[in-house]
Order: sequence, then structure tokens, then C-alpha cells
Amino acid sequence: MTNAHQNQGQSQSGIASAVVGLQWGDEGKGKFVDLLAAEHDAVVRYNGGANAGHSVVVNGDRFSLHLIPSGILHSGKLAIIGNGVVVDPEKLIDEMDNLAKRGIDTSSLIVSDRAHVVMPYHKAEDEIREDLFKAARNESPKGNLSEIGTTRRGIGPAYAEKAQRATAVRMGDLLRPEVLKERVTKACTVRAAMFRPYLPGEQDHGMYESLHAEKVLARMTSAAGRIGPRIKETTYLLHDMLAGGKRVLFEGANGTLLDVDHGTYPFVTASSVAVGGVGPGTGVPTQRISKVLGIMKAYSTRVGAGPMPTELFDELGQRIRDRGREYGTTTGRPRRVGWLDLVATGYACMLNGTTGLALTMLDVLAGVDQINVCVGYRTPQGETRRFIPDGFELAKATPVFKTLPGFKEEIGGARTMTDLPTNARGFIDVVQETLGVPFDFISVGPGREQTLDIRR
Ligand code: IMP
Repeated sequence: MTNAHQNQGQSQSGIASAVVGLQWGDEGKGKFVDLLAAEHDAVVRYNGGANAGHSVVVNGDRFSLHLIPSGILHSGKLAIIGNGVVVDPEKLIDEMDNLAKRGIDTSSLIVSDRAHVVMPYHKAEDEIREDLFKAARNESPKGNLSEIGTTRRGIGPAYAEKAQRATAVRMGDLLRPEVLKERVTKACTVRAAMFRPYLPGEQDHGMYESLHAEKVLARMTSAAGRIGPRIKETTYLLHDMLAGGKRVLFEGANGTLLDVDHGTYPFVTASSVAVGGVGPGTGVPTQRISKVLGIMKAYSTRVGAGPMPTELFDELGQRIRDRGREYGTTTGRPRRVGWLDLVATGYACMLNGTTGLALTMLDVLAGVDQINVCVGYRTPQGETRRFIPDGFELAKATPVFKTLPGFKEEIGGARTMTDLPTNARGFIDVVQETLGVPFDFISVGPGREQTLDIRR
């Protein structure tokens, strides 16, 4: 009996907290994971893959992280990629190299041996599927067969492969050449048979190469040489940490409204984004988490297809997009912009058992005369205050707005609540009263110092 948790069943003394996005991603989670990392011993990703894009600004330098937990920017903290994440090994190496070039030590990074590998053929499949659906939509614009607008990072196909089992590759398999060879060969054979009629011309080597088992194997073997030492068992590691009194922060990627079960299906990502995903995605029971910080923007954004009842199509929407630099960290796509939807964020608060809120991008709304917040939907069945977690049904809803007076003053220099204009404070009050959850933080700019910590 050497390990602290043996005979205990549960890890008792440490603290587990989570940070999760309450909208459609890009809420500014990276900044808060970075901030809270200082109060924790490890930061753990439990879902998603390189589709996520977390931006953190440290001393004026902007870092964009896709796979590596934002905690990596604090030295001395473990950065753990849990088993629920799908890992593109080549992207991971790029990210490690980019951080190293900028003087960041990545030696504390650990990747679960049970995290699944995103293979080149998953990315090719993501592309082919999206292109096919896009073409079908262009032919029949009124049909329901729309593309999801994925990030084309192979996320859906990699999770589908995980569910298929026979052809899936886990990070630990990268270190077992025989298993790797058998899996990759099978996966390429199956795919080549399925996709041959749809593959573009011979000249498109990217697609063909991604289905060439030997080439894929060579790439993965080379990647394994680089990241092999990072691949470890992580479930006992986390339980041992918690049993030893350590503090662990779980970092949700994407956003709750993109959750594969609870989001605006089918316009969602392929993983369990809400805090419920921590259990399957790391092996730490969700009830172990005592604090859940929900991150929300002062307005809404969405990338890709799918309903967004409060979307703005006018000049104001463009102004918010430009001021808020609302262009994807992962794909560079312009984000769709709309008013804050309190029905949607309220639903996300409920799903996550949110204990505190962080408001981001409030500074972007300075100079907007009147600010709308959505407090209900009009639907063909009547008015409702409840969210509609079905992509096609939600598309039929129109928003019921409450209009609040705006504020003119720039607020990037505010450091306490009393520095904020009265109307900005009024906006904050309406949000926390409507959601029934208190604010812990208000962010007034991208910098670490542009954060009002109002935790009680
Ligand atoms: P996938 O995750 O690449 O399959 O994309 C599915 C949907 O989720 C698309 O609409 C993406 O734009 C969206 N999505 C996935 N990850 C993020 C994210 O981190 N931020 C915002 N949108 C995301």
C-alpha cells in the first residue's frame, strides 16, 4: 500500500475547481484559467482537442493555446491533458516548440496515455464531410443538410473512432509499435474503401497521404519520439494529488452550448464540454468539484453554423466584432456576434452547477447607447424563458429583449467596482440577478491586471 488513496475510494483533502465557458466558446476562459492557475497545483484539460483556442496575455505578450492547458504559462504547475481530450500529436509538438521559442518551459506537460489520437485521416474526413454538406446546401439552400462549420481539426471523426474502438489509437499506443501499425493499417483500409469515390483529384496529395498507412505510421512514430516521455497514466496521478492535499483546476474547452449532449445539437462539438465531462474525461468524479467558475462575455459570439437567436447583422455587430477582435484563434474565421442571451447562459449555469461568474469583454460595449439582453424567446408554441437545446427548434425562436442604458466611458483602467460607470454596474446587477449566480470577476481588458476580483 504505497499510494495515498488506497483503501480510501475517494481522494479527500485536496481541492478541485473548474472553469467552463457558458456560451458558444471563446468566452475568455484562457485568461481565467491562467489567473486561477496561480492558486492551483495542476491544470487539467478534460475535453475537446485542437479546436479550442485560448488566448492569454501576459505582460503584453499574447499566447494562443489550442491543446496545452493554459496553466503552462505558470512555472511549477503541472499541465495535464486528460483522457477525454483528442490529441493531434503534430499540433501538440508545434505548440510545445512555439512556447519553447518564447521562453516558456513546457517540461511540466503530461498527456494521458488513454487520450485518443487525432490522425491525419480524421482531419481529411472532417474536410470531406464538411465540403460534401456545404455543396449539398449550395444546391438546396432550404434543405436541412447544412454543414456544421467545424474547425476541420478532425475532432468529430476522432471521437467517432473512439466509439468505433477497433481502429482507434490512444496516446499510449504511440509507444507500442505493433499495436500502432495494426490500428493505423486497419483504419486506413476502412477509410480508403469508404471515401475513394469522394476523394478529389490525384493531384491533392494531402488527402491521399492522410490515408496512406505507411506514411501515417512514419509521421506518428516520429511524433512519438518527441512526446513519448510526456505520455503517462493520469487518473491515479490526479487522485494521488487530491489525496495529498493538492489543488487541481479543470479547464473546459469550447463552450457549454456546444456540448454534444446538451448544446444546440447537431451544431455542436463532439465532446462533453459541461463540467459533467470531468468525470469521464479525467476519472475524477464530478461531485469532487467544489467551485465552478462560469465564464461569459458581455455579448454573444458563435463560430460556424447553428442558431443564435440574438445575432446582430448590422453595423453595431461589426463594431463589436472589430473592437472585441472577434476572429477565431484557431481558424481566423470572423465570429458571429449578438446580444447577451441570458436564457442560454442561465441554462449553461444550471448544467454546470456554476458557483461563480466571470464577465469578460465588458470594455467592448463602451460607447454603445443601449444594451439589449435576451430574457426569453418567442416560439411558434408561445413565449418561453427556457432554453431550447435543439438546433433546428432554436432556429425558430426570436428573442425577447430587456433594454438597458449603455455607458460611454472607456473602462480598461478600472480596478475596482467603484471605478465602473453606474450603467456598467447596472448591467452587471441585471445579469447576476437574472442568472441567480454572483460575479467573482469582471474583466475589463485582456491583461492579467485588467481584472476586478470581487470574490466574497
Ligand atoms: P468541431 O469542434 O471542430 O467539430 O466544430 C464544431 C462546432 O463547434 C463548430 O461550429 C466550431 O466552430 C465550434 N467550435 C469548436 N470549438 C470551438 C471553440 O473553442 N470556440 C468556438 N467554437 C468552437
